Amino acid sequence: MRILLLGASGQLGSDIGRLWKDPAVTLITANRLAADVTDGEAVLALVEKTRPEVVINTTAFHNLPVCEQDPETCFRVNVIGGWNVARAAAQHGAAIVQFSTDYVFDGTKGSPYVEEDARRSVNIYGASKIATEDVVRQANAEHLVVRVSGLYGLAGSAGKGGNFVETMLRLAREGNPINVVSDQVTAPTNTAEIAEALLPLVREGARGTIHVAAGEGCSWHTFAGAIFEIAGLSPDLNAVTTAQLGGPVKRPIYSVLGSNRGPSLRHWRAGLERYMREKHG
Ligand SMILES: NC(=O)c1ccc[n+]([C@@H]2O[C@H](COP(=O)([O-])OP(=O)(O)OC[C@H]3O[C@@H](n4cnc5c(N)ncnc54)[C@H](OP(=O)(O)O)[C@@H]3O)[C@@H](O)[C@H]2O)c1
Repeated sequence: MRILLLGASGQLGSDIGRLWKDPAVTLITANRLAADVTDGEAVLALVEKTRPEVVINTTAFHNLPVCEQDPETCFRVNVIGGWNVARAAAQHGAAIVQFSTDYVFDGTKGSPYVEEDARRSVNIYGASKIATEDVVRQANAEHLVVRVSGLYGLAGSAGKGGNFVETMLRLAREGNPINVVSDQVTAPTNTAEIAEALLPLVREGARGTIHVAAGEGCSWHTFAGAIFEIAGLSPDLNAVTTAQLGGPVKRPIYSVLGSNRGPSLRHWRAGLERYMREKHG
């Protein structure tokens, strides 16, 4: 199976590249230099040249404060980019695997969101990913939309300049008090665990919408506490509320992803322990 992977240098993309060693899969990796997803002709030329049966789009513009300030770029990369990729794949008879987010939900449900739940975003990034899902579905009938949440991976997020785990470890090293929200609950997920769960789905030709996230959710404060515990650090970690922290971006209070049809990933702590072992020994 020939698969073209876009966003190969991102944290999810690089874990797919690192972990997919299936001899039945030829993985062609591409970064922004190979094709900027906002350039429809460049995407089409890349798909034409590489002739994949499946195109995986992990690219995104997802620095949330910047999305609020610059919705045009956010929508251009996510929505137009997703549409360009899905359409180019369709024109060459290839399926599209498009990544999406827990932020398509507003957080008011209070229990894990499943694939069929109604979407309502509370910020620009979430709105752009709802639109991305929709244009991808319209452009290519052979689609798989994969919603994930709270990603961290060995490569660090290109779009956010690192990841939450490394930010916490840096703040602990700097020795100042660390304030982390305790009223936002999600399922932080190691991208390695997603990459491994995705391979059989793609090989089996799964279609539709699917949630792939760590088992169970936790607050970012609980997650930070686990990071420090595993690292053997005891910084001055304080629980704060979203209201106390302020900031320009509204976020869903509860965005744990459950699933009626996706693979069950391990508990978020198991994914974190794996990350700490692989990244920090
Ligand atoms: N990170 C999270 O917490 C999170 C949570 C839920 C869902 N998601 C979704 O999961 C997916 C993967 O996220 P991630 O954390 O792995 O992202 P990431 O590390 O920031 O990687 C995104 C990749 O997209 C590439 N890219 C950005 N704009 C591009 C453009 N115009 N043309 C071509 N490539 C472009 C970047 O390339 P450069 O390095 O050249 O910029 C980067 O390699 C995304 O769809 C994201 O929306 C992420």
